[in-house]
Amino acid sequence: MTDRIKQYIELAKSLMGKKRFTHSMNVADMCFKLATIHGEDSVKAYTAGVLHDIHKEIDPELMKQEVLASDMNVDPVELDTQKLWHGIAGAYFCKTELKIEDEDILNAIRYHTVGRANMSKLEKIGYLGDLVSMERDYPEGEKFRRYTMEDLDNGMFEAMKWSIPNTIGKGGKIPLCSMDCYNFYWKYRK
Ligand SMILES: [Fe+2]
Ligand SMILES: [Fe+2]
Repeated sequence: MTDRIKQYIELAKSLMGKKRFTHSMNVADMCFKLATIHGEDSVKAYTAGVLHDIHKEIDPELMKQEVLASDMNVDPVELDTQKLWHGIAGAYFCKTELKIEDEDILNAIRYHTVGRANMSKLEKIGYLGDLVSMERDYPEGEKFRRYTMEDLDNGMFEAMKWSIPNTIGKGGKIPLCSMDCYNFYWKYRK
């Protein structure tokens, strides 16, 4: 493990509660595993996993300021939905404060809650690693883990097919990038 990753882990530990820190470490492990299986850079995948929720527990006002400052194609629905701010805020923080320049890592963090069409392999690993990390024990977890190990594109299709109605069922709104994501990965369904 590089010194830089050790610093990111310490930073994550300092910015979130114990439960979310455990989740972040599990997501990093899962992203590493998925990168190994699917031929992606495992250090980049692990880094995105450690940092994906880095600003999820900060003051919401500061989070919103980061979203507004980010210039990261923020959808009106994202702006309207506090739960969706932390991916954008986290990516902005990683870019401006941690000086991470790798656009792929930044996008994996930025889109890990909402998805989008035509994601890079690292973005799909970030999204799905968060969905299927080991502590996720909802009924569909095992099924999504299997889909994701087998095929990232079908994994994205199955993930969006499940998460969009799930959000609507709770009375939530769907950003256009998530609908685009579902429509894009529909052709990869199995
Ligand atoms: Fe998240
Ligand atoms: Fe997460």
